[in-house]
Amino acid sequence: MNYLFNPQAKLKLFGISLLVVLTVSISCTGKKETGMVSDVEQKVENLLAQMTLEEKVGQMLNLGLPAVLPGDYWGARDTAILDTARMEIYLKKYGAGCIHNTPGYPPTKEEWYHLVKGMQDYIKNNSRLGIPIIYGIDNIHGANYVLGSTMMPNQIALAATWNPEKAYITGKITSYESRAASLPWNYNPNADVATQPLWGRIGESWGEDPYLISEMTVAYVKGSQHEGLQDSTTNAVCVKHFLGYGAGTNGKDRANAIIPENYLRQYFIPPFKEAVEAGAMSIMLSSNAVNGMPCHMNKYIITDILKGELGFQGVVVSDFSDVEFLIIAHQSAGTFREATKLAINAGLDMAMHPYNATICDTIIDLVNNGEIMMSRIDDAVRRILRLKYSLNLFDVPYTDPAGYTKFGSEEYMKENYDAAAEAITLLKNEDILPLEKNAKILITGYAANSMNVLNGAWSRTFLGLDTRFNDPSKQTILDAVKSQAGEKNVTYVEGTNYLDDINTDVAVAKARNVDYIIACLGEIPATEKPSDINELPMPEAQQELVKKLAKTGKPIIIVLVEARPRIIKDIEPLADGIIMAYLPGDEGGRAVADVIFGDINPGGKLPYTYPKYTGNALVYWHKKTDIRDPNWGFNGFYPQYQFGYGLSYTTYEYSNLTLSLDTLTGDQELKISVDVKNTGDIAGKEIVEIFIKDLFATISPDVRKLVRFDKIELNPGETKTVEFVISSKDMTYVDLSNNWIVEDGDFEVHAGGNPDSMLIKKFYYKN
Ligand code: BGC
Repeated sequence: MNYLFNPQAKLKLFGISLLVVLTVSISCTGKKETGMVSDVEQKVENLLAQMTLEEKVGQMLNLGLPAVLPGDYWGARDTAILDTARMEIYLKKYGAGCIHNTPGYPPTKEEWYHLVKGMQDYIKNNSRLGIPIIYGIDNIHGANYVLGSTMMPNQIALAATWNPEKAYITGKITSYESRAASLPWNYNPNADVATQPLWGRIGESWGEDPYLISEMTVAYVKGSQHEGLQDSTTNAVCVKHFLGYGAGTNGKDRANAIIPENYLRQYFIPPFKEAVEAGAMSIMLSSNAVNGMPCHMNKYIITDILKGELGFQGVVVSDFSDVEFLIIAHQSAGTFREATKLAINAGLDMAMHPYNATICDTIIDLVNNGEIMMSRIDDAVRRILRLKYSLNLFDVPYTDPAGYTKFGSEEYMKENYDAAAEAITLLKNEDILPLEKNAKILITGYAANSMNVLNGAWSRTFLGLDTRFNDPSKQTILDAVKSQAGEKNVTYVEGTNYLDDINTDVAVAKARNVDYIIACLGEIPATEKPSDINELPMPEAQQELVKKLAKTGKPIIIVLVEARPRIIKDIEPLADGIIMAYLPGDEGGRAVADVIFGDINPGGKLPYTYPKYTGNALVYWHKKTDIRDPNWGFNGFYPQYQFGYGLSYTTYEYSNLTLSLDTLTGDQELKISVDVKNTGDIAGKEIVEIFIKDLFATISPDVRKLVRFDKIELNPGETKTVEFVISSKDMTYVDLSNNWIVEDGDFEVHAGGNPDSMLIKKFYYKN
């Protein structure tokens, strides 16, 4: 059983140093696991045999923390003290297996320790079997719910590095700092394929490409669970949201997604499959429906596909209140009893039922009436206990925060900065960037002076809007620009807030006296339903600011601090330079300023297609018929910037694209090599992208498909030959019978660093 860690690790794309780290940890883990897994299984069976139905069902309850605190569930708190009477109900009587969420503010690691210890000790002293709870939390960009932790870039920014090592390190730091707070289970990473630019949770995803998503997800899983989980610096991941969450047909959160099964298998399941193979210990279901069928009651995807075909041995957990939502949102169940029965019988192992334990009474009743089989309950509890034993929670239910000396350390801050710097993507540069450091600058805009906007949602609080929890030592873009250019050279005017003009006219007046304008535009931190929008363009007031500033004739650099790609087509021509910062986290201000002034040579590339028009928002892996234009030609794809696009302060030249074979047969490997030369005069990091294009297929082929990438460093004048290996597996697609196939015919390899100008070479494939 290799669910803890699959040694068939995909290491090829990792840097050399990471390769060494992983090789060591894989072999250690491999050795440890052989003994450990069977040991875990034995312990699980022994404990399960002693449990009553009530105790088993208690394990399936994932209750919200406020339910064991005094006061209203959603009441404001600035301290969290456990309520013994409530613990008696939920931890003793019902024996809840899991607690999740925050008290509404971000406790320090010491406060977290006392909270978790309080519950674990209570259970030890008051319950028959003393089964520890597992604490679950959304530490999605660093341990964001632990005050003082390292607030890393959001996933979409990490994706723009195209560097799985950055995902690995983020997983590692996040798990370490979570565990410093006695939090062992993280509701992350997000493996959703984000196909809808309107969707407000794009910032939490790795973007639109299934291959890039898979590579980053696997790296994050390994970074989090690196030592096989017994080590108290790891976290069990919870990969989410299974399935099709990022593809709501109307672009709204939790909306129905219409995805035929062959597409589900081709694009949406692979990142989860890779995560399972990498050892992911749990998976969260998606709150939405796919083809009208709510994921939480879809036995086919949970039991047949996930647990069956993919062989997933971990825990399937519901999203927040999602059994109830089968009634009130999906209208697919008439009563709570029916909803519970449908969800548990579909394969749900643990219900995130935040407010109370009513679901336990319901499950028990359903079992007693023969409507849920005991074997289903045993399967669920086995998975939950396996997770707890794997995490060593029975022996180490909490950990002393004092032992975690790297928490919030300089070392982690540097990793954070490096990840943010590597993410930043230069979208336009008309001979303006980098700026000289003694230039006179006006900096303005909603995103110029806010740590909250740099961090986005899930930052100390759910929506990340509270400024009280920001670290005063961190720099906004404004602070960092001042440190670079000198206080006296920098003028700051707010200009606008998110939606409204504040003092655009003052900004325009001040602009007349400077050399350059830096306009920082951005999105208000938001997630889930509060992040739903109806229109994709950047809010009007922010665009107006740029339009008015442009009238001064001064050169403008736009910095975008946003999760999803807000349309900028009207202001893009007014800017001489455009820098995409995504949601870069606590070190993002410094990273942006260092790009502006040339201390960092930007090398990030877009992990999604940046649309120019609302009515022309397509993922890059669309069909030729999707881009038929009004003249009946095929030029109807008008993105502002393509997936995989990003400039640098240097230039690269690609040449000598070579394929090892003209005709590939059966399982043969195809070796691809390409030379990349740094033709500029500064060093840079370049992402080399390899796409495959199937020229003809029964199911209309995608215009292209990413199959490999690598990141290389080149000094000025230096050339490197970059090599890749692919096989027929990389060329397969899913047919209407849901089989992965590849048909005989012509294919192309597209190689390069700019999707607009790739080198192309043809080969023939024969089964
Ligand atoms: C979100 C999940 C999250 C869960 C627990 C839900 O509303 O959709 O992504 O993990 O809450 O906080």
